[in-house]
Amino acid sequence: MVLKGKNIVLAVSGGIAAYKVVQVARDLTKEGAEVHVLMSEAATRFVTPLTFQTLTQQKVHTQIWEGWTKEEQGHISLPGHADLILLAPATANTMAKLAHGLADDLISTAYLATPATTPFMVVPAMEHLMFVHPATQQNIQTLRDRGVIVLDPKYGEHATGATGLGRMPEPTEIVAAVRLVLGQRQGDLRGKRVVVTAGGTQEPIDPVRFIGNGSSGQMGYALAQQALERGAKVTLISGPVKLEPPYGCEFVSVRTTREMEAAVNLALEANPPTDVLIMAAAVADFRPLRPSEQKIKKEKDKPTPVIELELNPDILLGLKGRPGLENLLRVGFAAETNDLALNAEKKLKDKDLDLIVANEAISSIGQPDNEVTLIERGGLTQQLARKPKRAVATAILDKVLELLEKKHVMNNA
Ligand SMILES: Cc1cc2nc3c(=O)[nH]c(=O)nc-3n(C[C@H](O)[C@H](O)[C@H](O)COP(=O)(O)O)c2cc1C
Repeated sequence: MVLKGKNIVLAVSGGIAAYKVVQVARDLTKEGAEVHVLMSEAATRFVTPLTFQTLTQQKVHTQIWEGWTKEEQGHISLPGHADLILLAPATANTMAKLAHGLADDLISTAYLATPATTPFMVVPAMEHLMFVHPATQQNIQTLRDRGVIVLDPKYGEHATGATGLGRMPEPTEIVAAVRLVLGQRQGDLRGKRVVVTAGGTQEPIDPVRFIGNGSSGQMGYALAQQALERGAKVTLISGPVKLEPPYGCEFVSVRTTREMEAAVNLALEANPPTDVLIMAAAVADFRPLRPSEQKIKKEKDKPTPVIELELNPDILLGLKGRPGLENLLRVGFAAETNDLALNAEKKLKDKDLDLIVANEAISSIGQPDNEVTLIERGGLTQQLARKPKRAVATAILDKVLELLEKKHVMNNA
């Protein structure tokens, strides 16, 4: 969403990873960005300009010697109109040029012509020995010191078969980093700190068995992802799920409800204070009183074991009235199998929440989409049609933003 209508200059230098950047150009374009590609001469030996031209539907520029007629001068002024410049892959050679202010090709000239306020992101990719060489490291440091965003390369196998540090991050990660940077500059939640809990918790019965639920984490992860894209600093506290944490969040992995409670408390103690807490996790309300240290055996002549349960802490209730959290906007979820509205409103009041997202448990937990009702403090209710969890996340964050603004107005009144 954050990429829609954005103007991105994609500079491609001559590394073998250039073929992967074709996917980056495609993904950025698909998400609605206008992508203008600049290629070094060496880059055109790895991928043809026509490939990028076809995918971006924009003319690809390869040298400074072209385009000096009045109609064509566009490429010289491209960095001045861009929302972000992305250099990927960034060769050792091109980074050296940027670090030293050379301007003998299109990419290095574009770097010098980039306004100081426009984010410039560099994605190094090269063989391990080239990457760790002090010359390359020093050039990267010079660029970072100037405010250039340099993504760290990965450890792994290179195209030549050698293994080491220097592999380019995957295209999805590069696109996520672009979204993040744009969100942090232009997103409507920029500067806000948001803590999101996600997934289900597990309570051990013995070392191999647990009490759990079918939560997939999709709702919480979608909220974290979108809050990041809208510019928030996000801490995602998650129970065990099969999802990759969104790029750029602070990620805390927990298993039990008590671990989740400790992680939430720790996150809320951090400074600057958290603006929004969204509890999307499906926590286990009960835990076995005496989990067995060894796997419980099925024994013929012994009675079937009975698992005695005790109550887990209620994380949101525990925060009610806590000093120092007066400005925290609290969002809870209510997944119910019966009397949904009634139970949700009771939770909202009992736990002193600003917003509760009410959904029917059976048709929402573990499903890719959800039908929810947003209930505000005071009872104002908004019913949303069934939609993908990503779209539900958008609606929840729109409401969060509205409530934050209301809170701000009230605090300043
Ligand atoms: C097959 C091949 C693969 C290369 N891969 C890389 C690479 O991944 N990273 C890098 O920094 N240089 C790589 N190079 C070296 C660059 O292509 C070379 O330094 C070139 O001058 C870079 O020009 P540019 O920075 O203007 O694109 C490779 C060279 C060849 C022949």
